[in-house]
Amino acid sequence: MTQAAALDFDHVELLIGTVENAADANAKAVRNTVLSPRFYTTDFDAMDKLNIEPVRAEWDIMMKEYEGDNNHDHFQRDAAFADEVRELMPQLSPEMRQEFLDFLISSLTSEFSGCILYNEVRKHVKNPDIKQLMTFMARDESRHAGFINQSLRDFDLGIDLGQLKRTKSYTFFKPKFIFYATYLSEKIGYARYITIYRQLEKHPDKRFHPIFRWFERWCNDEFRHGESFALIMRANPDLLRGVNLLWIRFFILAVYATMYVRDHTRPLLHEAMGFESTEYDYEVFRITSDIARQVFPVEVDIDHPAFRAGMTRLVELSIANAKAKERGGVIGLLGRATTAVQAAFTFGRLYLLPVKKNTLPADIRMQPTW
Ligand SMILES: [Fe+2]
Ligand SMILES: [Fe+2]
Repeated sequence: MTQAAALDFDHVELLIGTVENAADANAKAVRNTVLSPRFYTTDFDAMDKLNIEPVRAEWDIMMKEYEGDNNHDHFQRDAAFADEVRELMPQLSPEMRQEFLDFLISSLTSEFSGCILYNEVRKHVKNPDIKQLMTFMARDESRHAGFINQSLRDFDLGIDLGQLKRTKSYTFFKPKFIFYATYLSEKIGYARYITIYRQLEKHPDKRFHPIFRWFERWCNDEFRHGESFALIMRANPDLLRGVNLLWIRFFILAVYATMYVRDHTRPLLHEAMGFESTEYDYEVFRITSDIARQVFPVEVDIDHPAFRAGMTRLVELSIANAKAKERGGVIGLLGRATTAVQAAFTFGRLYLLPVKKNTLPADIRMQPTW
């Protein structure tokens, strides 16, 4: 039985919650759970000390691309957008509508999370290279977040971004953890969007919302953001050796596991696109792992049977945890504690699986050719 088939909608609903009105949508964006995108802050003085001279030539070419801003006119709706929304949205089942809203809200939160982080770094650092980079990336993320928010407003579910910025809590990460996590989330963002775009390019009848038509040029921004962090890490190779290799393994696994569990709460969304959640996620892992060879000397073995079994187990445990939460009382509490321990144990076993080793390429930059 496939993972998606093993999930019935009641379980999914427990995990994603329902959004009926703008207050629900805003509350969902503010809430921090293990699966929801977070806001980050970091040590700005340490960021100031970064030196990108070892990659200066590649850095300057990348800065020229940012300056050229080839997506400056991309995030505007065309004439057909509103018509497509009017025609297609009433066709969604209530369950599918919830999954799509969950997708839009978590995508918006994660775009806006980038926007806030890059803006904060821009404001607080003096290092001119980092300041310039952060200015460009904040510009891009703010467009992305705004564009998704327009689609939420079609449902009367716009997120108040000013309020979100003030009320959502911030997680502190040392700069190196920001680099590992943000590099991965930018590249995964690229892999997710391009996989959806290519699928719907082949099957336009499955494009149930016009926003997907924007994903190709959109994900090139994310690809370039990832390139920026790759260059920063390669310019500071201490970030890529010794004990940091253990941290890199941890972050790859944490980011992959979070995505896998979250995506398995949206089986209908993937089905509507002609995917199955597991198959979609492994395609995204494959692309991300291929790209990450530009910077990470280690990669997790996504084809190892124990890796696949562990990921499936994490989905089962998160459903069991949500059911225990709904049950409440002492038994519910016990159930939640048990599933939390089992999930930590499963994660630990995944962490201890053998990793693959990579020799880093001399030319760091890659092209988004997927
Ligand atoms: Fe973005
Ligand atoms: Fe990005």
